[in-house]
Amino acid sequence: MTVRLVHTIAVLRKELAAFPAVQTRGFVPTMGALHAGHGRLIHRARAECDQVMVSVFVNPLQFGPKEDYTGYPRTLQEDCAFCDARGVDILFAPEAEEIYPRPQLTFVEVSRMSEPLCGRFRPNHFRGVTTVVLKLFHMIQPHRAYFGEKDAQQLALIRRMVLDLNLPTTIVAVPTVREDDGLACSSRNRYLNPQQRQAAVVLYRALQAAQNQIAAGATDPRQVQAAALAILQQEPLARVEYLELVDPDEMQAVTQITGPARLAGAIWIGSTRLIDNVLCQPPG
Ligand code: PAJ
Repeated sequence: MTVRLVHTIAVLRKELAAFPAVQTRGFVPTMGALHAGHGRLIHRARAECDQVMVSVFVNPLQFGPKEDYTGYPRTLQEDCAFCDARGVDILFAPEAEEIYPRPQLTFVEVSRMSEPLCGRFRPNHFRGVTTVVLKLFHMIQPHRAYFGEKDAQQLALIRRMVLDLNLPTTIVAVPTVREDDGLACSSRNRYLNPQQRQAAVVLYRALQAAQNQIAAGATDPRQVQAAALAILQQEPLARVEYLELVDPDEMQAVTQITGPARLAGAIWIGSTRLIDNVLCQPPG
């Protein structure tokens, strides 16, 4: 193994100081249970940076009281081998007490943009995400940080946080990596049994149908959303949480499709919550 596995902020600081000549430090924050989607982010960072850092931290602050914090997959040994095989220099995997040694009283919140879509159903989730990402940025001080379009609202919020707080980190967006049938890779896919796994692809199918309608000239979001919902409702194992067309920068609902828009959806398959989104482009 050549990847350095680090558990504490003190050792992390020493490790970073041992590389004084680093010109570009790339950072890929994750919650572990690494899969091909994370792999794509790491690959991009490895291609663009001379030092690559990955964090694996299941962040309690972004889970609601009834959510899957305790059951979230924790596979540090496999994650470490995954990072090693991809040339990661440092894997930072702290315990919760290291990041939150005392109750956290300070939060970063990107208002307005964190309210629609997932924000409506997961109160305080995005506050937990932006707070931990800012803390990690302070610890790691990356020049570039890599985020997946799979979590489009998270990506948009982090971009905005970086702008609003004048952070010196460049945010790099990486397209969604999908399984062969189109299901977006996700750590939560491993909760699905084979029957649920088959059903899960309905989300991407519905998004694609809407994307095609918009490419063919549809301009009314309600009509496009209704067509996608009809596809989702044909799958008895899926329960729709939301499906909404929003503007790609601020994630606010659009009333008329006049330019690029993001269609984002969340569904439940049994007790597993899945999200996905596609960028929709009107003709011309
Ligand atoms: P996690 O779900 O582990 O995702 C880590 C990063 O991988 C995120 O930027 C996410 O968008 C990206 N990612 C996940 N699945 C992907 C896929 N199929 N294709 C491309 N990228 C994908 O997102 C989080 O963790 C956390 O909220 C975090 C940012 C680490 C803060 O705790």
